[in-house]
Amino acid sequence: MSNFLEMNKREKLIEAIVNKYEKMGENPDTYLEGLLQAKPINYWDYIEVDTLLSLQKPRTDFKDEVVFIGYHQVTELVLKLMIHELKQLVFDSLSEEEAIEKMGRLTRYTDMLITSFSVMSEGMSYEDYNTFRMTLAPASGFQSAQFRFLEIYCTPLKNLINEEGKKRLPKNPSIEDYFNHIYWRDAGFDRETGKMKKILELFEDKYLASFTALAKKLEGKTLCEQIRQKDYQNEQFIEKLREFDYAFNVKWPLTHLHTAKTYLDKKGENKAATGGSEWKKYLHPKHQQRCFFPWVWQEVSIIDWETRTVS
Ligand code: HEM
Repeated sequence: MSNFLEMNKREKLIEAIVNKYEKMGENPDTYLEGLLQAKPINYWDYIEVDTLLSLQKPRTDFKDEVVFIGYHQVTELVLKLMIHELKQLVFDSLSEEEAIEKMGRLTRYTDMLITSFSVMSEGMSYEDYNTFRMTLAPASGFQSAQFRFLEIYCTPLKNLINEEGKKRLPKNPSIEDYFNHIYWRDAGFDRETGKMKKILELFEDKYLASFTALAKKLEGKTLCEQIRQKDYQNEQFIEKLREFDYAFNVKWPLTHLHTAKTYLDKKGENKAATGGSEWKKYLHPKHQQRCFFPWVWQEVSIIDWETRTVS
């Protein structure tokens, strides 16, 4: 590019900057002066590397505990990105094309969590894990609130109630009724004795009000309901919904359950989980029966929750 053209381009850029600040009622010179004095940004500052690397704090001397903490943190970051996409899907008026793109992103993130789960199933010493995990009771991944927020963005609460729960629901259930019977309460609430486990009590104390507030805000406006109302006929979109539903509600849970079995039931010992749930039954998708977009499964043969396939 000639010098003249370059100057011209630069002048236009400066003019655009000046216009931008004048429009805001600000003095452009102050901002240009600031730009002149500002230090260049570094990777480590922008990504907050030091903060990020200071967050892994093992409670024991077992080397693999840091693997356990780190991988949970990776999962939470990925869930944050998924919720970031979901908020746009739910609150912004996206075109069908944009929505398809975002559904693809959700499945890609979920696939990332599924394929990387071997960091847990194969990446820790069996003995070490089974020793250091005892210091973590009653904490459990069960208490990951982002998993529940994600569900609430995706689908109305009625789709998070399994067949047993549906039988218990009163007529015209309120949001509170739905939360009383939601599938995840089965991990810590014994409906016969009325006893509640610490894992659930602490979790609900901390988050139930926020879950309820979000569910109220999204009444009739969850992703499932919005898409249903728009009545998209695009088969590609339907396929994207199926893929995500299947990955998040069947594949990930089965991968996670397989890992739990690897550590807690390797020799048929059925060890107690840190959260104390009847985990083998509770964690199986056929018990939970979560389904974000039920109508997209109507035209395919559903064999069961484990072998759910598109035909
Ligand atoms: C060695 C690795 C792991 C084992 C053995 C394991 C085991 C378990 C068990 C037994 C439960 C049932 C609740 C309880 O009684 O504690 C549970 C729940 C859960 N765990 Fe893990 N877990 C592992 C890793 C992870 C990771 C990396 C995550 C990611 C954040 C995670 C997320 C969850 C979630 C979301 C639940 C609740 C599932 C649901 O309600 O459907 N777990 N886990």
